[in-house]
Amino acid sequence: MFKKGVVMHSVTSGAGFALLRGQFLQRVLPQKLWSQALLIQLSSVLLITCVSPAVINSVFAFELRSLGIHLEHGLTWLLLHVVLVSVMAAAIRMPVWWRWIHLVFPIAVTLMQALALPASVYLGGFIITLALYWSVHNTRVPFYPSFPATWRAMHHLLEQQAGDDSLRVLDIGSGIGDLPLFLAKQRPHDRVSGIEIAPLPWLISFIRATFSGSAVNFTLGNYQQLHFAEQDVIFAYLSPAVMEDVWQKVCREMRSGTCFISSEFAVPDVTATHIIYPGIHAPALYLYRLP
Ligand SMILES: C[S@@+](CC[C@H](N)C(=O)[O-])C[C@H]1O[C@@H](n2cnc3c(N)ncnc32)[C@H](O)[C@@H]1O
Repeated sequence: MFKKGVVMHSVTSGAGFALLRGQFLQRVLPQKLWSQALLIQLSSVLLITCVSPAVINSVFAFELRSLGIHLEHGLTWLLLHVVLVSVMAAAIRMPVWWRWIHLVFPIAVTLMQALALPASVYLGGFIITLALYWSVHNTRVPFYPSFPATWRAMHHLLEQQAGDDSLRVLDIGSGIGDLPLFLAKQRPHDRVSGIEIAPLPWLISFIRATFSGSAVNFTLGNYQQLHFAEQDVIFAYLSPAVMEDVWQKVCREMRSGTCFISSEFAVPDVTATHIIYPGIHAPALYLYRLP
């Protein structure tokens, strides 16, 4: 009895401590993950910059050297920085992929510095990255293309659902336009369109449509500002972070009998009408028919 009580107590106080720590971190840390990451990198750089001269000149320097730790080598401090940022990222419970970014980023910076590329290369890289990913910090949906097996499965689905009837099909977040261009080629009687928020993928899709003579209409904009009521089929390849919001909009605006199809990411807590598996390398398609 007594032992059980002790265990219970330590478990509760452990949970209490975790809760307090969580509340404390929530209060002092910025909300956005990228700003947390920046804070961690800067804190480590600041710490190392302040501490390193003292360590290099300290009485321990000789002992550290005899252990094979060469304080005058930038590599030693890089290693320390990588360890520090990884520990900090783990301590504030950043998602795993951010911990990998913390690990790889300082090493990549050091390597790129060694290459001594002209500043214009970085400016060019920045502009391309910005044009490709644009407001990903807000939308939480980066660009990555869907698979040909997904386009073929979508075509097959439309054939099954509508045959020769004309459909209005919209890809929300159409990237470089792969899916709409493919569907419009297979089903010229449909009215296919795409909307994309990032300028570079949109420009590529627009140029592709223009040069291939496709009738697909690509709009540069935010799908949240578009009314879905006109569409018969809406395709989305977005991210788990937005599925709940998209579904709310779909339910508010799409007509009864129309379809919302999501590649890879299911709507949480909603049972799909059909799940289609396009192939071993392509993710599942979740089809929701509006009641
Ligand atoms: C995973 S990619 C999918 C691209 C394309 N649908 C395909 O299948 O290849 C998601 C795209 O959605 C775009 N996106 C994210 N949020 C958006 C929004 N609110 N409005 C329009 N496009 C958005 C992103 O810029 C990105 O290009």
